[in-house]
Amino acid sequence: MEQNRSSFSGKLGFVLAAAGSAVGLGNIWRFPYLAAKYGGGIFLLVYIALAVTFGFALALTEIAIGRKTKLSPIGAFSSLNKKFSFIGILGSIVPIIILPYYSVIGGWVTKYFVGFVSGNASLMAGDSYFGDFIGSTGEPVWYFLIFIGLTALIVLLGVDKGIEKVSKIMMPALILLILIITGYSLFTLDGAWEGVVYYITPDFSKFSVMTVVAAMGQLFYSMSIAMGIMVTFGSYLKKDVSIEKSVYQIEFFDMGVAFLSALMIVPAVFAFSGGNEEAMSQKGAGLMFETLPKIFDTMPGGNIIGAIFFVMVFFAAITSSISLMETVVSTITDKFKLNRTLSCLVVFLGSAAIGLVSAFGYSIWADVKVLGMQFLDLFDFASNSVLMPIGAFATSIFVGYVLKPKSIIAEVEGLDENGKPYHTFRAKKMYSIIIKYIAPVCILLILISSVLDALGIVKI
Ligand code: PHE
Repeated sequence: MEQNRSSFSGKLGFVLAAAGSAVGLGNIWRFPYLAAKYGGGIFLLVYIALAVTFGFALALTEIAIGRKTKLSPIGAFSSLNKKFSFIGILGSIVPIIILPYYSVIGGWVTKYFVGFVSGNASLMAGDSYFGDFIGSTGEPVWYFLIFIGLTALIVLLGVDKGIEKVSKIMMPALILLILIITGYSLFTLDGAWEGVVYYITPDFSKFSVMTVVAAMGQLFYSMSIAMGIMVTFGSYLKKDVSIEKSVYQIEFFDMGVAFLSALMIVPAVFAFSGGNEEAMSQKGAGLMFETLPKIFDTMPGGNIIGAIFFVMVFFAAITSSISLMETVVSTITDKFKLNRTLSCLVVFLGSAAIGLVSAFGYSIWADVKVLGMQFLDLFDFASNSVLMPIGAFATSIFVGYVLKPKSIIAEVEGLDENGKPYHTFRAKKMYSIIIKYIAPVCILLILISSVLDALGIVKI
């Protein structure tokens, strides 16, 4: 079994593969709208603080557990301790919830790409265009089915390696394009610079518990942690690669793309809304789709730039949806001993059915709200603000008090044939403190407050 496990060819291969899974709609679509909604600079500050502490500790833990056990999540946790195998199971449920609604948004991206290619730039810049689009019963559903169908086809045919190659070129190109769009909007839109100030200067009066709740959910989602994915990546990792350095690099990519995407979007929204912060906090999932077409509309060659931009976002999204679907397919294949083709079909049909709920959530089911949320937001909340924090909490208790941090530290340091550590683990003191004390206490508090808030018991 162990000998058959292929490994990443080199250090960079691992970092790029993990970053490819991490960088996706979470960075380009989700981060900017949360930053706009939760007070700009203060959200950014809280996010960075959480990323370099919790994010770092949890990603490192998962990769180390994967490399130590050489197993996928369910097997990995149960091989370490039977009582804690539920962490692996919990983690495997998360991608099942995320994949369907992720693909609904992937469908929106596809629609916008098609729209720009067919020369509809100015139509799409209209105020009610996005609302009308998601409020209709036809197109959002078809585009969703196209996106998830394509993901399933790629997973079934096993051509994800080809996609990965393409996205290695697309990713740097996307970053470049984001910089160009940002530059254009900052220098042409009135009031955009005040928007930059709003985005990067923390205003502590805007701090609330909800800022932390949102930032933490975003961190889990964006870094693909607390769902077993990093365990799987770690299981393919060779001993001579430093886990600590890799985590720094993955975080750098992930935060970099999120930071830049929000720099492209938040100041522009600020400018379009005339600096009205009240209006900014009302913004939601549609932000990227409403703001960018407005920028492209005024830009010379906006049709082409819009098309190129959305095709790149499409690639970033599909690499993530492939990695989500791969995880679900391999869980189902292992658990129910199905063959891969059948598993793919089951996952495709199941996700299509669950995703339809989100896709119809803005049209025929627009009035149905659970806990005050639309379906898409509800799924997003259940995975990012409930299941992932529970998984992360359980992981920190397990590693902090049962497995003990020293065993993760030993895996990170690695021993060569003379029994000497391969790598120095510079942040090991900080790591132990976070995983034992800070992570469990903070995650628990955040989890409780977000659930109480959703149930309407306490308004935070
Ligand atoms: N991290 C991805 C993003 O930011 C989402 C994702 C989650 C991808 C889990 C794979 C697995 O879009």
